[in-house]
Amino acid sequence: MTLRLVLLGPPGVGKGTQGRRLATEHGWPLISTGEMLREAVARRTPLGVEAQRLMDAGQLVGDDVMIGLVKERTGQSDAEAGFVLDGFPRTVPQADALDAMMGERGRTLDSAVSLTAPRDELVRRMSARRECPVCKRAYNLVSWPPKDGVHCDDHPTVELYQRADDAPETVVRRLEVYARDTAPLMEYYRRRGRLREVEGLGTMDAVYGSMIRALGL
Ligand code: AP5
Ligand code: MG
Repeated sequence: MTLRLVLLGPPGVGKGTQGRRLATEHGWPLISTGEMLREAVARRTPLGVEAQRLMDAGQLVGDDVMIGLVKERTGQSDAEAGFVLDGFPRTVPQADALDAMMGERGRTLDSAVSLTAPRDELVRRMSARRECPVCKRAYNLVSWPPKDGVHCDDHPTVELYQRADDAPETVVRRLEVYARDTAPLMEYYRRRGRLREVEGLGTMDAVYGSMIRALGL
């Protein structure tokens, strides 16, 4: 089936975790703008150099750059039968641009899933997060540790790393930026009848089940 979906929610709520599983199980690409930017940072491209400064400060990268990236990525052939967008849109201009690019292609965005969890849980999750630099999977030293405590289960020679923007002071800033710039998107999609609210607290399986039910899958 075809589904074009946006995952909304604060930093650390589980967008990447849930989005990866949903996309893998249904054969859609997971399009994570945060991952695209971290890749650019790792490769030291001009975009990466500029983005790193903003990401490390917990600030957003400019709308025009992000809209250009997503327009290009969602236009690729693997996104024709649907996609899961994680981390975009993050501002009202990005949401307007997404609708416009879908419209130009004669398509529509089906749903925006909003995941929620209390602030102290978000902070706990981010402080214990460790990611695989190869497959980008997010582990958690408390709730989802890798088998040997250090390496990715699927890449046994690759050490997990902590994201620079998971430093405690950056987490505080990211939560503020989320409340100011991104939280208004819930109302944006609610008014358009496309918002599906899902409780992000609970086991990863429980959250996944709620999301599947909310989407009628
Ligand atoms: P981005 O990478 O999108 O970060 P984010 O929105 O802050 O979200 P996170 O990736 O931190 O959290 P998540 O919801 O994916 O949680 P996860 O699944 O990892 O963006 C990073 C930066 O890039 C931004 O700050 C900005 O600078 C820039 N950027 C990106 N997109 C942009 C845009 N469109 N416009 C402008 N700038 C942009 O889970 C978190 C942890 O919890 C993990 O350890 C996981 O194992 C664990 N966990 C998950 N689910 C559960 C559960 N149910 N129970 C217990 N633990 C759980
Ligand atoms: Mg993520």
